[in-house]
Amino acid sequence: MALGNWIKILSLSVLLGFASVAFATTDHGDFAVLDEFRKRLTNAELLKWPSNNEDPCGPPLWPYVICSGSRVTEIQAKNLGLIGTLPPGFNDLSMLANIGLQGNNLTGALPSFKGLSNLQYAFLDYNQFDSIPADFFVGLDSLQVLSLDKNPLNGSTGWMLPSDLANSAQLMNLSLVDCNLAGPLPDFLGNMRSLTHLKLSYNNLTGEIPASYEGLPLQTLWLNNQEGLGLSGSLKIITSMTMLNDVWLHGNQFTGRIPSSIGAVAFLRRIWLNDNQLIGRYPLI
Ligand SMILES: *[C@@H]1O[C@H](CO)[C@@H](O)[C@H](O)[C@H]1NC(C)=O
Ligand SMILES: *[C@@H]1O[C@H](CO)[C@@H](O)[C@H](O)[C@H]1NC(C)=O
Ligand SMILES: *[C@@H]1O[C@H](CO)[C@@H](O)[C@H](O)[C@H]1NC(C)=O
Ligand SMILES: *[C@@H]1O[C@H](CO)[C@@H](O)[C@H](O)[C@H]1NC(C)=O
Repeated sequence: MALGNWIKILSLSVLLGFASVAFATTDHGDFAVLDEFRKRLTNAELLKWPSNNEDPCGPPLWPYVICSGSRVTEIQAKNLGLIGTLPPGFNDLSMLANIGLQGNNLTGALPSFKGLSNLQYAFLDYNQFDSIPADFFVGLDSLQVLSLDKNPLNGSTGWMLPSDLANSAQLMNLSLVDCNLAGPLPDFLGNMRSLTHLKLSYNNLTGEIPASYEGLPLQTLWLNNQEGLGLSGSLKIITSMTMLNDVWLHGNQFTGRIPSSIGAVAFLRRIWLNDNQLIGRYPLI
């Protein structure tokens, strides 16, 4: 080979050597979201994220972050006392599979989670988020567990669960306690036959339990303490949910006879029916 070619190869490898120093492993878009997230916190020091690198996926990995290759797949920063907001482009973390930000003091608008098709677990409960965008639930194709409990979402008007969530066919746990849900119980939840734990206590829900809920394999059903008018109608439908284990229906306006066959639901461990308009005897369980 001519000397000139050797020189070319040599300078190319020097160039590549520099390049691998200059560029971090982490996807730059993922870094940018984390960087924006910490800039919006007033106490970002709690995260102990280094300020002198752009490489959350490391090595070393940044605290509270988990990656697969160059992509961020988890942020696990619960109960840290973080104060601030989440950035609008949060769903650029397109490989995110599991997020745990519960028990912080995050405020402002929840960003859209639209298109987070790898997201399986989302824990955003016990914060101070005050609104949820209408497209939040679009394309959450892998979602199994979602918790938004105890966030003052859309407080002045209340909000209804968008039917986009119906596409999250493997959803198992849906927990929306005390977050200003208003209106009727969504019909479409009755078609989500993976749903095993449904907690909707302390909202402003009204109307009857929809007929579509017939035979849902729910183990947990919490609908207690609705503000305002409360839930109403008969409770007969719950006797068709034969997997029920933990049932909280108190503090509503359910009427009619307590279905005697509820005592025959095999797995029933606990049922609260007080503070309704029911007649008849409590089932023996
Ligand atoms: C959250 O922030 C609010 C407003 O700054 C404050 O009143 C509250 O004490 C904070 N709560 C926690 C748990 O830090
Ligand atoms: C919550 O309120 C915001 C702001 O008013 C609105 O744009 C959004 O559609 C509401 N969310 C839902 C799920 O209705
Ligand atoms: C789903 O909810 C049940 C009942 O509250 C709970 O025992 C279980 O740990 C939850 N699963 C996850 C993954 O959070
Ligand atoms: C919930 O219902 C109560 C009582 O009717 C009402 O005062 C309140 O404005 C409602 N809140 C929302 C968010 O719909």
